[in-house]
Amino acid sequence: MDFSRRAFLTSSAALAFAGCGTLGGKTPRRPAPSERITLGIIGCGTQAFSNVFTFLQDPRVQITVVCDPILEAPGYSYDAKATGGRKPFKEMVDKAYGNASCRMTADWRDVVYDPSVDAVLVVTPDHWHALIAIAAMKQGKHVYCQKPLAIGISEGIAMVKAARESGVVFQVGSQHRGDSSFRAGGELVANGYVGAVKTADVGLPGANGGEWGHGRDTTRKTPPAYFTKEGWQMWLGPSRHWEDDAFIPAIHEPLCWRWNSRTGGGMITDWGAHWIDILHWTMGFERTGPVAVENMSTNYDGDPVLDWAAKYSFDLVYANGFRAHVSSDARCGITYHGEKGDIFADYSKLERPDFLKKWSEKRDLKPNEKHLYRAKDGHSHESDFIDGIYERRPIATDCEIGHRSISACHIANICLRLGLKSLQWDPKAERFVGANADAANKLAQVPHYNGWEI
Ligand SMILES: NC(=O)c1ccc[n+]([C@@H]2O[C@H](COP(=O)([O-])OP(=O)(O)OC[C@H]3O[C@@H](n4cnc5c(N)ncnc54)[C@H](O)[C@@H]3O)[C@@H](O)[C@H]2O)c1
Repeated sequence: MDFSRRAFLTSSAALAFAGCGTLGGKTPRRPAPSERITLGIIGCGTQAFSNVFTFLQDPRVQITVVCDPILEAPGYSYDAKATGGRKPFKEMVDKAYGNASCRMTADWRDVVYDPSVDAVLVVTPDHWHALIAIAAMKQGKHVYCQKPLAIGISEGIAMVKAARESGVVFQVGSQHRGDSSFRAGGELVANGYVGAVKTADVGLPGANGGEWGHGRDTTRKTPPAYFTKEGWQMWLGPSRHWEDDAFIPAIHEPLCWRWNSRTGGGMITDWGAHWIDILHWTMGFERTGPVAVENMSTNYDGDPVLDWAAKYSFDLVYANGFRAHVSSDARCGITYHGEKGDIFADYSKLERPDFLKKWSEKRDLKPNEKHLYRAKDGHSHESDFIDGIYERRPIATDCEIGHRSISACHIANICLRLGLKSLQWDPKAERFVGANADAANKLAQVPHYNGWEI
């Protein structure tokens, strides 16, 4: 971004554009090209479809480059019907803008070191988030990084440091903060409508459901034809490679990287990144963390390929005594247990005691009560990110918030990995303390391989 663009984006003219999204019932008004936020997409797989589609609706954004080591991979999506890779994404972007100007590349450094790019969307598997996002922040680029923020605790700490030092706008892909059910449920809890809330149940999915879950082929293969030799190396990147750089369908087919610790954190981080994030938001733990994980129980059987448990339960305990019981068997969503009754929330449902049935967030939440953050009316999580860039103000989920949400999940995963029932954590020093702390602190450090480093 040259100086004049930088100056524009913090000027009052930019503030005027900040409200001109297609959303919120306003007539779309497209800023001149020089005044748009130029965005690079890094990772053209399943989740990128949704993020890119939403960014394409925002007239203040110009997607100028898409990046993926895969050129084109048919069936690369949740329903195995769409085609992933940089080529279909370029075509989608060009079609939306009515031209052929979107650039494509197989190497994310072509995006991060391109001075004409203002912001990046990092939507790769988890083992790449920290390296790409930190490099982008060091280049002064604003970052929308998918959840879970990082694959391990040390990476998250490094990301928060880079975010503070660079001062860029950072949004974590925690779009469920925009769900009115979660927000209203959280406001009822935070404002004491059900009395003191000392416990909650957090239900996350197990790892063996769905077509892309456990139960797939764990034998070693050569990579499918959609990977070139260099493309497969770029996909593996800083993760610890398997012998002979094998492609193992159960953990390398689209979406399946979640089931192995070299590339993902299982369901505890995959969905914990959402529900623990909401829990932290509503209970006031956004910039701290638990003091202990307790009562860990899993069905992990020692499988080195599918090395995260399909079933698990544990408690996260916080300094004020609050206890969250997290389980793959609990009802999916968050159930807050209050003195005067329970509140259940998920992304579309809010259940509350009869005496609160008529309560409405819009009508009944008083100005002096705690209001949880809401994006501008009708603005998506993606547009909230663009608002943050134009207006230079805090937005829904900054880097530290995302780090604290996911480090709570990593603390649980480390306890699981060590086969322990409990571990203690110092949220201020961000270190394990007490019994088995040395072994746990070692696992909090993420190693990087193949010449890649932060
Ligand atoms: N916010 C949400 O609700 C939500 C939902 C699903 C996924 N996600 C997150 O989005 C991210 C991507 O998940 P997904 O389901 O789309 O996975 P996916 O496997 O479908 O897609 C990942 C894409 O990243 C590409 N990639 C790998 N290495 C790369 C590199 N070095 N440079 C550029 N591209 C690279 C892959 O080739 C693939 O196309 C994950 O972090 C995931 O947790 C978030």
